Amino acid sequence: MVNDAALFFEQFLRFPGTTGAVAPSSRRLARAVAGPVPERGDPLVVELGPGTGVFTEEIQRRLGGRGRHLAVEINPALARRLTARVPGAAVVVGDAARLPALLADQGLGRAEVVVSGLPWAAFSGALQDRLLGAIAGALAADGAFTTFAYVHARALPAAIAFRHRLGECFEEVVPGRTVWRNMPPAFVYHARRPRLLSPLQAAAAAGQRGRPAGFAQGMAASTRASTIRLSPPRSGCHCTPTQKR
Ligand SMILES: C[S@@+](CC[C@H](N)C(=O)[O-])C[C@H]1O[C@@H](n2cnc3c(N)ncnc32)[C@H](O)[C@@H]1O
Repeated sequence: MVNDAALFFEQFLRFPGTTGAVAPSSRRLARAVAGPVPERGDPLVVELGPGTGVFTEEIQRRLGGRGRHLAVEINPALARRLTARVPGAAVVVGDAARLPALLADQGLGRAEVVVSGLPWAAFSGALQDRLLGAIAGALAADGAFTTFAYVHARALPAAIAFRHRLGECFEEVVPGRTVWRNMPPAFVYHARRPRLLSPLQAAAAAGQRGRPAGFAQGMAASTRASTIRLSPPRSGCHCTPTQKR
């Protein structure tokens, strides 16, 4: 069996657009990204894009047998490795953009913490919107979301766009210190409290993305009695709400 680094690199060569890195993250970065996993209670922790499992192992270490840990990996070869390596986590082969549905399939409710290993800078704006909408729709109202970015890629348009989206989608976003012991050096975004979006704002946001008018009207009607996520504080959040609160 090839080692983790070799498997990861092989998957990068086959699927560069989803793997987004040539090597797994370091344990230092894993400790930083798993920081919000609570040390007490029985939290539901969701991990997106676990790859070969360096974040998975740290989350499991912090949980110490408590709570639930769902790991969603789109690449079946990586998911197979992870299932064998970290039996304490429930590994699902799937698309993180379907997170609320994946949680429902498992009979799980909203997550206290979502930890992401997804390569945001490799994604289009539309995909970033879908994923952030799914994450916010799957988080508890006071939930925490952490994800990382590479320092050298900070100025890339997709990385800047992601930073703006994150600020539009969460009430609080705090960048952490640079983790130099990672290849390449990276830092973590700590986001909390997904914003709520009124039905009209949701409809407007859907309309801004060029959806048919009927779609926006239908969504406004179907969500009239409730609020759903993500208000646009300045320029308007384009994340699609995927689950009612
Ligand atoms: C940059 S790697 C990070 C892997 C691991 N967390 C680490 O830090 O070493 C990104 C991972 O996200 C996975 N991925 C990409 N898009 C995904 C999606 N839409 N849903 C679930 N996993 C996805 C890739 O297959 C890959 O395992």
